[in-house]
Amino acid sequence: MIKLKIVGLGVSLPDKILTNSDLEKMVDTSDQWIIERTGIKERRIAESKTACSDLVIDATKQALQHAGLKASDLDTLIVGTSTPDTIFPSTACWVQKGLGISGSAAFDISAGCTGFLYAMEIASNLIATGKSKKVLVAGVEILSKITNYEDRSTCVLFGDGAGVCILVPTEEDRGIMSSNWGADGNLAELLYMPAGGSRIPATCESVEKKLHCLHMAGNEVFKNAVREMEGAAFTALKDANLTADDIDLFIPHQANIRIIDATIKRANIPSEKTSITIDKYGNMSAATIPVALYEAYHEGKIKDNSKILFAAFGAGFTWAAMILKW
Ligand code: UT7
Repeated sequence: MIKLKIVGLGVSLPDKILTNSDLEKMVDTSDQWIIERTGIKERRIAESKTACSDLVIDATKQALQHAGLKASDLDTLIVGTSTPDTIFPSTACWVQKGLGISGSAAFDISAGCTGFLYAMEIASNLIATGKSKKVLVAGVEILSKITNYEDRSTCVLFGDGAGVCILVPTEEDRGIMSSNWGADGNLAELLYMPAGGSRIPATCESVEKKLHCLHMAGNEVFKNAVREMEGAAFTALKDANLTADDIDLFIPHQANIRIIDATIKRANIPSEKTSITIDKYGNMSAATIPVALYEAYHEGKIKDNSKILFAAFGAGFTWAAMILKW
């Protein structure tokens, strides 16, 4: 086990709510279709002037207060995101600037919806080697800024938000019991933003063709998501010598309630042990897991020594699972 402790949690969710009935006025869709096919009722939308670092800074201030730490105590800042403030420098560096600190290592992880678990994997190994002692791990997205609100197959799904946690080493019997991660870049084009990088830099044509928006082959993503989330969760249980019965809480990535239902059915995880936030926030990609963790903690669902299973799947394709003993 990698011995570590989460000492601070924070979230930032924009005030503005976009409901299914708002979307009915924008595209040919219905509240009934969205709820039945995705489980989403509403999602949060950031103000036009807000960037991801603003949400992370807000969430980090809460987490620091929770942990009884100062921003200058953080030695490593890792941000999982697909919607960074800028391609460079990293969102983590903008967070550093906003917190008024310098010197700590700061970098982003691009792993789509798996970004938070990839960041946790790196953070826990930095702690295990003694390289880092106080690590901020964030998952954040402002997907509304890369969503095509004329495409009903994607625009009903996504929302904005951030969740963070602060990790420290501990001598106590708690931490990461097992973890695994993987990717299959051969399937990259099933979920991606085509333009804005070196392949298709920004031009008037790329903007007109909406190539700076998220493109997704929903059905293919769905099938792969169920298979890989279940596989990753199963591997994490096996590697920790646990069964689904030993798990106190399952926090899956929240992309579609039907993906979560299919995953828990296949992995034999009871629905009452599964954390669900998709109805309120939609798919916030890298932010869904830390936001669900924060909510579960504040709802009293996490106790000392609780065993929490996390699993995620996203663009890349990427996937990961982790078991944390709280
Ligand atoms: O975060 C990780 C990455 N993302 C995901 O994991 C998302 C994975 N995919 C999904 O969640 C689902 O595939 C979607 C929610 C995107 C789509 O659900 P689906 O049940 O796979 O629908 P579909 O694409 O097979 O479309 C079924 C029908 C189509 O109409 P026809 O061709 O049968 O007449 C669509 O045009 O539903 C139609 N449709 C809609 N109808 C009303 C698609 N989007 C909408 C909509 N409102 N918003």
